[in-house]
Amino acid sequence: MSKKELSASVAGDVSLGGEISVHRLGFGAMRLTGEGIWGPPKDRKGALAVLRRAVELHVDFIDTADSYGPHISEELIAEALFPYPAGLVIATKGGWNRHGPNQWTHDATPGHLRKAVEGSLKRLRLDRIDVYQLHIPDPVVSFEASVETLAQLRDEGKIRLVALSNVTQEHIERALKIVPIVSVQNRYSFADREWDYVVDYCESNGIAFIPWFPLGAGKVAGEVLDRIARAHQASPTQIALAWLLGRSPVMLTIPGTSSIEHLEQNVAAASLRLTDEEYRGLFEVPRLVASR
Ligand SMILES: NC(=O)c1ccc[n+]([C@@H]2O[C@H](COP(=O)([O-])OP(=O)(O)OC[C@H]3O[C@@H](n4cnc5c(N)ncnc54)[C@H](OP(=O)(O)O)[C@@H]3O)[C@@H](O)[C@H]2O)c1
Repeated sequence: MSKKELSASVAGDVSLGGEISVHRLGFGAMRLTGEGIWGPPKDRKGALAVLRRAVELHVDFIDTADSYGPHISEELIAEALFPYPAGLVIATKGGWNRHGPNQWTHDATPGHLRKAVEGSLKRLRLDRIDVYQLHIPDPVVSFEASVETLAQLRDEGKIRLVALSNVTQEHIERALKIVPIVSVQNRYSFADREWDYVVDYCESNGIAFIPWFPLGAGKVAGEVLDRIARAHQASPTQIALAWLLGRSPVMLTIPGTSSIEHLEQNVAAASLRLTDEEYRGLFEVPRLVASR
């Protein structure tokens, strides 16, 4: 594949609330932190280089959260890329905290979300966050109270666009009564399709869908993927990404990696086109798994 084709722009664009347009192949910055999404990366220079290479490859959407590290992922983004190139959209999140490696605790109270947004603004060195995502609904806090807080922060000019993560269609409908929702981020891949109906709902309503764990796969998935990958002289992860891009025009992928080589492979997946048969073969994987 020539260097000319190695561009995230080849994936095409998706609109965020009719206000911002970004390439559908973005970057997830969670994996840049230490083991268990905790602490600084082993190779700090390498992490900064991955972020800079992503932007060189025209990636213009970077996903992060205050809890990655915590704080480390946002700090690395600012260190690598500030002052930010025009058009670069950073989408961060709040409401789900880390207290140790692989440990999560909820706090989507209005008071915490306000503090979280202030912290992200400071670490990212921004006056306004382009996309702010409620990381996950808090089971002991009114969902409406969390979303209303983000709507207020938007009215105050601290957030440009509001988004959700780890939600059902019902959550999206409730949030839309309060504020426009520009994207939804849920776990999703060709092999992991619990949220198929949310993808369809987002497509019908002009909301971008951001799949997390987009490269996830199992044994049966691996067999089907390997066969298609060989046909395209591509890697299985590239095929998994190409499937997602074909799944819906509102799909905004954010494969995460700490390696420049993997980053370049992921960006190259933007130019892969699966045949209808290949697309359907992968679509059927969950059914195949269930029948074995
Ligand atoms: N909203 C949420 O609750 C939530 C939860 C999880 C993640 N996220 C977001 O979603 C993003 C992506 O999710 P994820 O990181 O869990 O999953 P992912 O992107 O599916 O997988 C990342 C893993 O795949 C490896 N990888 C990446 N590219 C590869 C390639 N070309 N070949 C081989 N291995 C490759 C990475 O290792 P190497 O570093 O070795 O490449 C890493 O271990 C995160 O960065 C984060 O921004 C959101």
